[in-house]
Amino acid sequence: MTLLSVIDVHTFYGPVQALHNVSLHVEAGEIVTLIGANGAGKSTLLMTVCANPRPRTGRIVYDGRDIALMQMHRIARMGLAHVPEGRRIFRDMSGAENLALGGRFHARAKFETLRDRMLTRLPRLGERLHQAGGTLSGGEQQMLAIARALMGSPRLLLLDEPSLGLAPILIRQVFNLIREIAHKDGVTVLLVEQNAAAALALADRGYVLVNGRITLTGTGQELLHDPQVRSAYLEGH
Ligand SMILES: Nc1ncnc2c1ncn2[C@@H]1O[C@H](COP(=O)(O)OP(=O)(O)OP(=O)(O)O)[C@@H](O)[C@H]1O
Ligand SMILES: [Mg+2]
Repeated sequence: MTLLSVIDVHTFYGPVQALHNVSLHVEAGEIVTLIGANGAGKSTLLMTVCANPRPRTGRIVYDGRDIALMQMHRIARMGLAHVPEGRRIFRDMSGAENLALGGRFHARAKFETLRDRMLTRLPRLGERLHQAGGTLSGGEQQMLAIARALMGSPRLLLLDEPSLGLAPILIRQVFNLIREIAHKDGVTVLLVEQNAAAALALADRGYVLVNGRITLTGTGQELLHDPQVRSAYLEGH
């Protein structure tokens, strides 16, 4: 079943066109990755899926409904969660309060079950729940941002550069977490990563974005071994 279809999307920032005729699809249960250089339009594409900015033309169909003109909070209620680049946790709230916000639509018992499972997976977060978000380390804030999004029990999780700025051990933890939520919880993931080799190794499929256009698509393994992808995004990285 196709959970997300982006169809012929054109997105502008004022007069500047950031996405040109972009189409992609994500099947339920897949991990799909989007790779591309700085400024290629990866973040814009994830943000366009969440209606901020809205596409000038084109359609975004999520779970069978066109969401391109829907309000952001309604899209979130349909189980679509976005972890933007640069984390954006609430710095003055504690870790526990950040998680509570993410899970605010759940009844108490369900919320507590979800939170306990999250803290079993991310024990480091559990130790720091009462600390203000802004005083957590970069890696801990990144984990908190992902955990907060997961507390909403999303069906589709859009992750923008979750490993950015993290030490190798935390990068592995983030990739392991993505694998677990996809394979054990059945969350569908659309992942943007500078760390293209790791993302392609994890993903079922991928798309390459160049100057706002999709230029190549294939399975993670196909792209990992594609000579063009290797020379542009993998070698020397
Ligand atoms: N708010 C904005 N106003 C005007 N132009 C913008 C805005 N946000 C992004 N852009 C431009 O749109 C293009 C795509 O940017 P985007 O942030 O989507 O790239 P990206 O692929 O996520 O890059 P990076 O890997 O550096 O995060 C860039 O040329 C950028 O300068
Ligand atoms: Mg970006």
